[in-house]
Parts: sequence; C-alpha cells; structure tokens
Amino acid sequence: MHLHRLEKTWLGIGITMLALFLAILGTMAFSMGMAPPSEHHHTVDPRKVAETAPFDRPGITQVGDKHYEAVMVAYAFGYEPEKLEVPAGSKIDFTMTSSDVVHGFEIVGTNINLMVLPGEVSHISHTFDQPGEYLILCNEYCGTGHEYMKTTIVVK
Ligand code: CUA
Repeated sequence: MHLHRLEKTWLGIGITMLALFLAILGTMAFSMGMAPPSEHHHTVDPRKVAETAPFDRPGITQVGDKHYEAVMVAYAFGYEPEKLEVPAGSKIDFTMTSSDVVHGFEIVGTNINLMVLPGEVSHISHTFDQPGEYLILCNEYCGTGHEYMKTTIVVK
C-alpha cells in the first residue's frame, strides 16, 4: 500500500501527539507519586491491624455531646464492630481501615461512599439527624462473600 505524503505527515503528527501525551501523563503520575503525604494521611501494616491502635479495639466511643468516634475494620466479609447505635442528631467520626483487600463503605441513604484500602486509614464524618436503621454496604467486589458484607447503624 502506498502512503501519500500528506498521510505520512498526519501519521507523524499523530505519533508525536501520542508520545507527548504519554510523556505528560508519565510526568504527572511521577510528580503525584513524589508528592508529600497530606497531614491526614497515614498508614498501618495491614497484616497487623488487629494489634495496631486504634484498630486493636474497634468500637464506638462518645467523645462529646452527640459526638461519637467509631473505629472500624473492614474485612472479608464484614465490618467490626458488627453494629453501631447512636441517638438521633449524633455526629460520628469514622476511622477505618481494611485488614485484607479493598472494601467499600457505603451508608445507604447518605452521601457517604468510599473505598477502604488495606494499610490506609480513612476518615469520614456524618451527622445522623433522622432516626432509623442505616445499612452499611461494601460496594467493592472483594470475593465470594462480597454481597453479604454489611453492617448497621441504628439511630434512635
Ligand atoms: Cu467487601 Cu465487597
């Protein structure tokens, strides 16, 4: 097949653009990887979650007026603690990690929806104004028990 000169030129431009794009992408990924960790970013050894504070004692603690702190561990296939209970109007600060693979943490009926990564400590807060049972679901496929991975927050 005969390539017209003009086609060759366009092909050349196309390849140059692609190379340029990949170079930019590579530089971006590199500089992002090199960026200093943000102050709230910290990690734990996922194999030692059960021995590492605060994850050695998962549970919910009252820290103020209608203010709670929940330490949670996501694992295949569940969450620790199994059930949380707070009075209506309470704010819960969640601190969590995964002790094995990537899990999800979605509180149905709220805008809380995040990934829980092994070794990464995630923080998120939510105020539960409406009484009810809030379902927490794993929305990252994590294995055969994925669809059974859930827990509940009871707001009274
Ligand atoms: Cu944990 Cu899906």
